[in-house]
Amino acid sequence: MDKFIVEGNGPLSGEVAASGAKNAALPILCASLLSDEPLHLTNLPKLWDIATTRKLLTQMGVDVQQPDPHECVVNAKSITTCVAPYELVRTMRASILVLGPLLAKRGEAQVSLPGGCAIGARPVDLHLMGLKAMGAEINLEGGFIHAKASRLKGAQIYFDTVTVTGTENLMMAAVLAEGETILENAAREPEVVDLARCLRAMGAKIEGDGNTTIRIQGVKNLHAATHAILPDRIETGTFLVAGAVSRGRVRVTHTEPGLLDAVLVKLQQAGAIIRTGVDFIEVDMQGRRPKAVNLHTMPHPGFPTDMQAQFMALNCLAEGVGVIKETIFENRFMHAQELLRLGADIRIEVNTAVVTGKESLTAAPIMATALRASASLVIAALAAQGETIIDRIYHMDRGYEDIEGKFAALGAKIMRVSKLM
Ligand code: EPZ
Repeated sequence: MDKFIVEGNGPLSGEVAASGAKNAALPILCASLLSDEPLHLTNLPKLWDIATTRKLLTQMGVDVQQPDPHECVVNAKSITTCVAPYELVRTMRASILVLGPLLAKRGEAQVSLPGGCAIGARPVDLHLMGLKAMGAEINLEGGFIHAKASRLKGAQIYFDTVTVTGTENLMMAAVLAEGETILENAAREPEVVDLARCLRAMGAKIEGDGNTTIRIQGVKNLHAATHAILPDRIETGTFLVAGAVSRGRVRVTHTEPGLLDAVLVKLQQAGAIIRTGVDFIEVDMQGRRPKAVNLHTMPHPGFPTDMQAQFMALNCLAEGVGVIKETIFENRFMHAQELLRLGADIRIEVNTAVVTGKESLTAAPIMATALRASASLVIAALAAQGETIIDRIYHMDRGYEDIEGKFAALGAKIMRVSKLM
């Protein structure tokens, strides 16, 4: 298992380019199942999860051409099976996103139930509720979702809880359904909007994406399209927080300021000077220590849960006390245990973390436990005195493209050590 060796090395400075958004690329790759014509995608991030999705589609008989790591042409004209097997789904829960498109296009799907993961139980009951409302027959047997539908029918669907992939799965199911589907209390994340943009380019009739009510008029067929994946707002935010924690000056390019307003507000509250342009965001601490911030994770446009761990690392090194409330997932504070090993002062009470900032942290061997949690450990280690070894960094490779190369370009002392075992 690979490890990172990270040495505290003072303020980060320089420029880094954001990659395409993992959480837009995953549903958009699955959207290729809705059409018999090629879907040409650019600005794809080079990540394990993208490779897993390509593998999942290929084993279904989808033709995937990959001119370069950041581009692919996907054609689902001659798929041979509608099965998403356990060994792939268990490594990536987002495989559930083939369910809606397969049902819509092929009238059947067998998708392994995605287990929970480190951050929570991650149920898919709302996905299944919506598909049943559209006329699908759903049976759970042998750890699989067995779904059938001669032709899905438009329905009015209300989500009790805002669900990102639930909204995406049902939006894809609805684009070929008979009649109109209305999704109420839908997720408003930019990745949902990017999926809608791609589906419209393929000929779907969707409006309201980005708001709480999305209307989809079913059409007979979709056609070929080309789509550039939107920039990754969480990767962008991760590097901006690293710049702030290290008291440096970091510019993230190939991104969009409008994707992460809530994060920029929190960085300004922490004392950062924020400069933005059409495709860049810059954080400048001018050598000053960040101030602690309070935050409360919420569905978009609220503060993103995927940025909570990174801001916990900031609060560990900030001036003052910051209170973090995690309202989306039931177990998303595992990074706190690892930060405590670096000498942080964190008190957890159910879904609230009270963090008392310290002038500095001290290196210690720690372990990545989940994707975004692992990024917070790198941020803290960069500001810790001494050499920190971070184990199980495969979590990071799932969602951050060349994270050590990008941090090193900002002046960080970070090295990957590959272990055979
Ligand atoms: C997406 O997960 C993202 N993953 C997550 O990013 C992100 O943290 C999450 O949205 C919240 O923004 C992808 O887009 C691939 P949810 P998703 O359904 O869709 C409950 C990362 O690090 N719920 O919006 O699985 C659920 O338990 C990952 O990139 C139900 O109860 O999250 C949670 O409490 C981590 N029933 C809440 O809704 C359902 O059927 C939000 O979950 C579905 C969800």
